[in-house]
Order: sequence, then C-alpha cells, then structure tokens
Amino acid sequence: MTARIIDGKAIAQQVNSETALRVQKLAGRGVTPGLAVVLVGDNPASQVYVNAKVKKCAELGIHSERVVMPASTTMPELLELIEKLNADPAIHGILVQSPPPPQIDEGKVIAAISPDKDVDCFHERNVGKLLIGKTDGFRPCTPYGVLVLLERSGIDPSGKHAVIIGRSNIVGKPLAALLMQKAAGANATVTVVHSGTPDIARYTRDADILIAAIGKPKFVRGDMIKPGATVIDVGINRGKPDPVTGKSKLVGDVDFDEAVEVAGAITPVPGGVGPMTIAILMSNTVTAAERTL
Ligand code: GUN
Repeated sequence: MTARIIDGKAIAQQVNSETALRVQKLAGRGVTPGLAVVLVGDNPASQVYVNAKVKKCAELGIHSERVVMPASTTMPELLELIEKLNADPAIHGILVQSPPPPQIDEGKVIAAISPDKDVDCFHERNVGKLLIGKTDGFRPCTPYGVLVLLERSGIDPSGKHAVIIGRSNIVGKPLAALLMQKAAGANATVTVVHSGTPDIARYTRDADILIAAIGKPKFVRGDMIKPGATVIDVGINRGKPDPVTGKSKLVGDVDFDEAVEVAGAITPVPGGVGPMTIAILMSNTVTAAERTL
C-alpha cells in the first residue's frame, strides 16, 4: 500500500485565503492587524523562520515589525521591548522566536507578553485555557495546525488512538491537550511517549494517528507504524550536506520512504506541518485584532 500524501501547502493556502478575507473585513473597519516578530541572536534556523513569518504577513496584508536584537541582549533590554510592544496599539500579536540565547530566561519573557497578544499561545494563562477547553485564548500554532490538517483531510480523531512522540511545551504537551478535548475535530484517546518511555514502538504500533515531534531525523521507521495509520511528521531536521553541492535537505522525524509504504496517509517534510504553523500564526494575529473591536 502507498499512503495518501496530506498536502500541507495546499491546506495552508486555503487557511491563508480565509485569513486574507478577514484582513479585508478589518480594513473596512479601519483596523490593520499587526504582528511583532522578535529575534534575539543569530541562530540561522530562527532567521529562516522569522523571515518566512514576516513575508507571509506582507502577502496577507498584515502589518509586521521584525525586531532583531544582538545575541548579547540582556533581560532588562528585552523586557523593555516587550513592554513597549504590549502598549503599542498597532501591534496585536507578539512573538519571541525560540530558542533565545542562554542568558535569556524564556519563561520570564513569555510571562511578560500580554496574554491578549500571545499569538503563540505560550503564556501560562493561555496554556491553562487551552487545557480546560476555553476558547477565548489562542490555539498554539503547530499543534492546532496539525488538527486543521487532519480535519481538512477528512481524518476525524474522535474515538481514535492518537500517539504523540515528544512532550515539548511547543508541540507535544499542547497537542495532547487539544486532541483530548471533548470537541469536534478532537475527542481522541491520547498517549504521549518521550525519552523516558521504554519500548516506544510498543505504543506507536497501536496508533491510529501517529504524530512525531521529537527532533530526531528519521526516528519513526516503517515497522513502528500500524498499517493504514495516519502519520503526521512535525520534525524539521537538517540532513547531512550533499558531498558535491554542500547543501543539506530538510528531513522529518519519520523515515518517509519506509512510512509511505505502511501508512494510510502521511505528511511530507517539507510541505506538511510547516506551512500550517505559519498559517495559524497569521490567523491568530487576525483574531487578536478582531478582538479589539
Ligand atoms: N520556535 C520553534 N517553533 C516556534 C513557534 O511556534 N513560535 C516561536 N516563538 N518560536 C518557535
């Protein structure tokens, strides 16, 4: 069997078109949504992500401010910037790209962002709302992107066994919270496996929906997948550089060539979850702007 490919690029485009319409509606009421994207330091992967976010804002008519601070930035300097952005009426969403340099206490920075502008859904108030199923916070970009991918591919998690590999605060934990909610597009039985789990394959082989988010290239092999399962690959890893061109390809957390022969549906890397993360970020920014009316 060869799996159906879930086209994240196409689904993200649908979401982005809907977001662009919402931006137009807001323009009619004199509001332009604004997103501040803050990058501290010069992490090359972070630079790529930040540039992609700023570019998408421009495409959709969202105002963006890209703030780049040196790797030597101190906590007081960063907190001062956050205060300024919190008070800026042209900015509806604030995002500080993760990971920051070691002298930055990320938890304190996230706590300083106004929960109303926390479009990443990293602030503990919004994470709490997510866990208890309150919808007046935000939905986190990558986890909610996964739910939208499933929904728009006709895959209903209700009653299914969803197994998440990875327990990060950015993906694994909030995704578990979203998938277990008693709500349309969710209602799954959720298992989270991680670095402390002996025999991970024992759990993954029982998954109807298997989500890999551990940051280990090709960790999920074909024999870890139940035949016909849906496989969602959240991993974005750099492969080995090509000896001739020196360029390295992006590799997911799933061995795609093996998995595609076993799974029923699968997301590619790139072109799967990645575009959805940015699409939800744009949508969240517009939601924040809509709430000011
Ligand atoms: N680093 C990796 N993913 C994300 C994300 O969704 N938001 C932020 N701020 N940083 C990240």
